[in-house]
Amino acid sequence: MDAKQLAAAKALEYVTSGMKLGLGTGSTTRYFIDMLGTKLKSGELENIIGVPTSEKTASLARALKIPLGSLDEIEELDLAIDGADEVDPQLNLIKGLGRALLREKIVESHANEFIVIVDESKLVERLGTKGALPVEIVPFAAKAHLRWLNNLGCQAEQWMELDGTPAATDNGNYLAKCIFGGGIPNAHELAEKLAWRAGIVEHGLFLNMATRVIVAGDQGVHILERKK
Ligand code: A5P
Repeated sequence: MDAKQLAAAKALEYVTSGMKLGLGTGSTTRYFIDMLGTKLKSGELENIIGVPTSEKTASLARALKIPLGSLDEIEELDLAIDGADEVDPQLNLIKGLGRALLREKIVESHANEFIVIVDESKLVERLGTKGALPVEIVPFAAKAHLRWLNNLGCQAEQWMELDGTPAATDNGNYLAKCIFGGGIPNAHELAEKLAWRAGIVEHGLFLNMATRVIVAGDQGVHILERKK
């Protein structure tokens, strides 16, 4: 098993029959969903309802015959499981480099517990030191949003496909990638600024959301818990 698989397998230990589960997006979560499908098929787990965070996750879950629901009819999730792009010592996260940050944030904020599964390469001292912060923007006046983002102390550029067309989310919006040299000085302050700007739909800072982080590496698995 590689590290991502190990983390996914550990997360499965938190799942019990009858749970309503938020299903994340990305390569680590994919392992988790595969394993969940296997346990449902064998009868080891039953009566699970998954709420997917992307069209990709929904079609994977359907292929594995995992029953799906939505937040329209489910008020509260017992648990959500998802990967992350970066995790800081306070268990704040950058997510969204799999393009699903808006639905992920909606689904995961309805979960009583949110377990993040990562390999140890995702651990950072400060968010924004490893990669870009993804931001979902409306297509209308996209360049104006990019100009505004560029004034936040980062280098912001529109996320483009290899063929030169704008990358789009499941919600029909565009994405920007914001690169902060040396990391994001104050993630809470930045999140607040981003929340107030018209045209910014959502951003990849997931602050005070993860309750546990399962980290897998060469030495095995360890679990970080959020301090209350
Ligand atoms: C999806 O939009 C992201 O938030 C993913 O959870 C994140 O990019 C981690 O993906 P991997 O598990 O593929 O590293």
